[in-house]
Amino acid sequence: MTNSYLLPNYARQPVEFVKGESVFLFDSNGEKYLDFTSGIGVANLGYTQPELIAALTEQAGLLWHTPNLYRNSLQEKVAAQLAGSRDMLAFFCNSGTEANEAAIKLIRKHTGKQQIITFDQSFHGRTFGSMSATGQSAVHDGFGSVVEGFVHVPFNDSHALKEAVTEETAAIFLELVQGEGGVVPADDAWLSDVVQLCRTHGLLLAVDEVQTGMGRTGKLYASDVYRIEPDIVTLAKGLGNGIPVGAMLAKRPLAASFSPGTHGSTFGGNKLALSVAAKVVDLIDSPEFLTEVERLGRFSLEYLAEGLKNCRTVTAIRGKGLMLGIEATTDIPQLIASLAEKKLLVLRAGQSVIRLLPPLVISQKELQAGLDIIIETLTKEG
Ligand SMILES: Cc1ncc(COP(=O)(O)O)c(C=O)c1O
Repeated sequence: MTNSYLLPNYARQPVEFVKGESVFLFDSNGEKYLDFTSGIGVANLGYTQPELIAALTEQAGLLWHTPNLYRNSLQEKVAAQLAGSRDMLAFFCNSGTEANEAAIKLIRKHTGKQQIITFDQSFHGRTFGSMSATGQSAVHDGFGSVVEGFVHVPFNDSHALKEAVTEETAAIFLELVQGEGGVVPADDAWLSDVVQLCRTHGLLLAVDEVQTGMGRTGKLYASDVYRIEPDIVTLAKGLGNGIPVGAMLAKRPLAASFSPGTHGSTFGGNKLALSVAAKVVDLIDSPEFLTEVERLGRFSLEYLAEGLKNCRTVTAIRGKGLMLGIEATTDIPQLIASLAEKKLLVLRAGQSVIRLLPPLVISQKELQAGLDIIIETLTKEG
């Protein structure tokens, strides 16, 4: 049932979801699925969240879009919400890759240098700058010359990182938990070396929180989990809960390098998107909400460790908050298909990992039900 008018750049499953409800999706045959994907880390607040629907419909009846030629108090509001107590300013765009493009431009403009260190197996997006930052050759292959200046080094390897820093280095740019690369968290000791290197050499520290941000790892940002203060943070995915919106936050001293006319986007930060983002941040950035995400994350890691302790195919269980990975020697596409047959949706990451990104509003009971399906399936197939 392929549509010959679509370019074949996605390997789509022959199932269409037509309705969502909290942490569940319903396909066109009315079958109900428990969703451990959140639309790849997007619907952190689940589907059909009433307050988001209210915010969106209210704004839809007022005004959808004004160009960035005029004041936009919704942008001002969301920028303040995202900054919180951090002295950071925001630029709004429409996607993760655009947020990273903005970061790359700001790094180059501010430092006057071109070299940016990024990491093997990282993923930063599909446009040329973000693609070039990405440390996976499969993402570059066939597209000719990449944007110059990116140096990829092994993740969690202090020696390799120190060797890579030169006079020309402008910034270190990383995911704190590599998502697409296999749900690989940064080691604490390595990250202190990263921060120290940035301090010693005057490098900017830029963190891609497109996947880890917006409560996913149990704090608003993974940088809060790791207690670091990056110069630049990029966001998208969960920021609009499904309405396309991205953001780059930058420390105040960088602001002068993004003077009027240096960068922009027609749709970036439009009123429809930002009316939803304002409500999203409101709902996620509360201690009760985030503490529960953290608790559910710990619960999941313990539950999986116990349930899979005798499963010989499982080689690692890891993650932060509700960003979880199970590494296994089993056939991963086959495993994902078996889980989907049991009405549980999960994602792949890297070659050998299933990635779980359940909506953050999931209850422990729902979470446990999904984890039980995974444990049972892996145990049987392993
Ligand atoms: C860490 C990270 N950065 C950037 C991106 C690109 O985001 P988008 O697909 O919205 O351009 C992704 C998407 O998966 C991501 O996981």
